[in-house]
Amino acid sequence: MSTLHIINHPLIQHKLTYIRNKNTGTKDFRELVDEVATLMAFEITRDMPLEEIEIETPVSTAKSKILSGKKIGIVPILRAGLGMVDGILKLIPAAKVGHVGLYRDPETLKPVEYYVKLPSDVEERDFIVVDPMLATGGSAIDAIQSIKQRGAKNIKFMCLVASPQGVEAVQEAHPDVDIYVAALDEKLNDHGYIVPGLGDAGDRLFGTK
Ligand code: URA
Repeated sequence: MSTLHIINHPLIQHKLTYIRNKNTGTKDFRELVDEVATLMAFEITRDMPLEEIEIETPVSTAKSKILSGKKIGIVPILRAGLGMVDGILKLIPAAKVGHVGLYRDPETLKPVEYYVKLPSDVEERDFIVVDPMLATGGSAIDAIQSIKQRGAKNIKFMCLVASPQGVEAVQEAHPDVDIYVAALDEKLNDHGYIVPGLGDAGDRLFGTK
């Protein structure tokens, strides 16, 4: 079963308060999302495998550890997920970045992929799918499905704020995918916004409305 990781670090919680505040403008919002993505990347990479190598320090030889070359792919869900990519790349600079863009057909309610581009070695990579908001779970479920269909086997999902419904829906659809959140909020309102949430993450990141 998928595990929900709530990353309760004081720095993340402090920055999230400013992200939530409606008086925080676009520039600060974008910078804060970037910083929180970096801090969350620290936690999401906690289980990365290491290997021991022998090196020479200026004083002696030493056995020391390095990452064992695990390949990572970051996949933002367009468009708000883009705001978290650079923050993660600061800690995992060699990661490749794929993109998934989806919308729901208003008549059939089926997900329509309008853009999917992943690294060519998709089967060899561990993926982190990112979107600041996990609301109904619909886009996350579809995006994860889309990259699984292309061969991805090991996937984590990372967001800033989640609703209980969203977490439950993703866990049910993808029990193999662990979820990392900075906050688990109270509920969704009738317009599909997370309460208390932070509003429309895409609009706040890109200054659109
Ligand atoms: N998407 C957002 O950007 N905000 C929400 O509250 C829910 C979905």
